[in-house]
Amino acid sequence: MHFPAPRTSPTLAPELQLGEPMTDTMHAEFVALLDALARASDETWLGAFDAWAAHTKQHFAREEAWMEEMNFSPRHCHGSQHRHVLNVAGEVRRQVADEGRFDTGRQLVGELLEWFAWHVKSMDALMVEAQRERSIAKADHVHQVV
Ligand SMILES: [Fe+2]
Ligand SMILES: [Fe+2]
Repeated sequence: MHFPAPRTSPTLAPELQLGEPMTDTMHAEFVALLDALARASDETWLGAFDAWAAHTKQHFAREEAWMEEMNFSPRHCHGSQHRHVLNVAGEVRRQVADEGRFDTGRQLVGELLEWFAWHVKSMDALMVEAQRERSIAKADHVHQVV
């Protein structure tokens, strides 16, 4: 899967790191792209939003595919949070593009960062824990078979 790479190598705050490299990388890029959106001018705002949205759709789809593969029970609740945030952000984009509501657009970044911290520590943390348990179980099984 290809993500539009941020120009600098992004870092993730320690409290948001879950210890699963692909997830942590996607999350660091999410924060870096939101940071770029926060710094965008009115002229570059829509382009910066679209870069964040394209990356976020892939990030969410990747997590949803992992949860589907694991048949992970909270996947529907987790996926509906993803859809909700994309719908809200899409509506804000429409207001910026159609009505020039840059105030609403700038407010969105702070709200997304708040939502993201909560989502990572709850939903994504549960998903990573389940991935870890399954890979330990798989490794134990291989060990028993060999
Ligand atoms: Fe995530
Ligand atoms: Fe998620």
